[in-house]
Amino acid sequence: MSKFATLCALLTVLPAVSYAQSPVWGQCGGIGWTGATTCASGSVCTELNDYYSQCIPGSSAPGTTSAPSSTVSSTTRPTSTSSGGSAPSTTPAAGNPFVGYTPYLSPYYAAEVQAAAANITDATLADKAASVANIPTFTWLDQVAKVPDLGTYLADASSIQNSTGQKQLVQIVVYDLPDRDCAAKASNGEFSIADNGEQNYYDYIDQIVAQIKQYPDVRVVAVIEPDSLANLVTNLNVQKCANAESTYKACVTYALQQLSSVGVYQYMDAGHAGWLGWPANIQPAATLFTQMYQSANSSPFVRGLATNVANYNALTAASPDPITQGNPNYDESHYINALAPMLASAGFPAQFIVDQGRAGQQNLRQQWGDWCNIKGAGFGTRPTTDTGNSYIDAIVFVKPGGESDGTSNSSSPRYDSTCSLSDATQPAPEAGTWFQTYFETLVSQANPPL
Ligand code: BGC
Repeated sequence: MSKFATLCALLTVLPAVSYAQSPVWGQCGGIGWTGATTCASGSVCTELNDYYSQCIPGSSAPGTTSAPSSTVSSTTRPTSTSSGGSAPSTTPAAGNPFVGYTPYLSPYYAAEVQAAAANITDATLADKAASVANIPTFTWLDQVAKVPDLGTYLADASSIQNSTGQKQLVQIVVYDLPDRDCAAKASNGEFSIADNGEQNYYDYIDQIVAQIKQYPDVRVVAVIEPDSLANLVTNLNVQKCANAESTYKACVTYALQQLSSVGVYQYMDAGHAGWLGWPANIQPAATLFTQMYQSANSSPFVRGLATNVANYNALTAASPDPITQGNPNYDESHYINALAPMLASAGFPAQFIVDQGRAGQQNLRQQWGDWCNIKGAGFGTRPTTDTGNSYIDAIVFVKPGGESDGTSNSSSPRYDSTCSLSDATQPAPEAGTWFQTYFETLVSQANPPL
């Protein structure tokens, strides 16, 4: 048999052997995917985004709703504040918006966690894993098609608070800027500046506002656009960021104004200690955040800043991780304690929330800038308003632990080489999709333990 014939024979056999079905949690579709499109029994191929379909346990995907087609209006929205913007329809309650409220548990995350726990054979670990479903996390509105889920959650939260008397707080991440994730690739989004992205974004915000308006009895807290403003502080040397600067500012201003008009308590994302906490970056950061606050007419609903979103820094490190050398702000407490007075003196009396979802274990990274699926991470201090720091309203879990930061598949259009570094867990699926082995590590390494 010639080599060619052997190759042909192999090619006819291989697909049937290697690619018959994807395993549970494996990839089964998406742009550029050439592998199997059917799933192992007990799981269903579920489209999570254009880039990634995943075999999710069960006979239907947990909590997914069919994506409605988004209507994109072409109306130009006001993008600057010189006209004054609209006043908040309600006056914010004084003090910490988390106090007196029970964070609503995302049914989507709970279903992800329950399915994951059911796939763990070690009974002790499975029990611990299942308990994670009771830890509140934020819901990322990372595509316009997810906005209707918010309406479902608000309706659910409203009925829970009516039946239990416990006031509910729905936690969301507003995350759909055009040319998103301008200095990295893993979380590249659905809108592009070159293709009507700014108008699409206004429409996305309008759809969020329309949902929230229907449930004035439910409190909503939002993290605004992870990484975007921080990229404008330090990454304007990246062409995509420089090109996005004015659009990001216009879009974030619109989000702040419109969400204020329906009484959403907002925290702009402020990177973390190892990014904006460096001495050269912190004052420029304070200046930019204050400008953005003022562009939203200093709305009292723009409560402050969120730090460490999807990152791994301790709130208070027992001792500085060696990778932080040279930065006096070696943990989130130091960063916040340094930044808050700068903001206040510039005119922004900012309060903070801090993500500790994956910060349970320390000294894991090779470089402080590493962010992708860091090996050995564990769930951290659980959400609480007992923060021990008067600048900090709450410790929160913003990144849903178990969802990937980015794929390690170098042929993916959203491949970022950070996800192949030696401290990144591999192989890893696309950003936002379930990463079972990573979740299991977060559970076993949780600190405090589960
Ligand atoms: C992804 C989002 C996802 C979020 C939470 C981000 O890195 O880009 O798609 O919703 O993480 O997992």
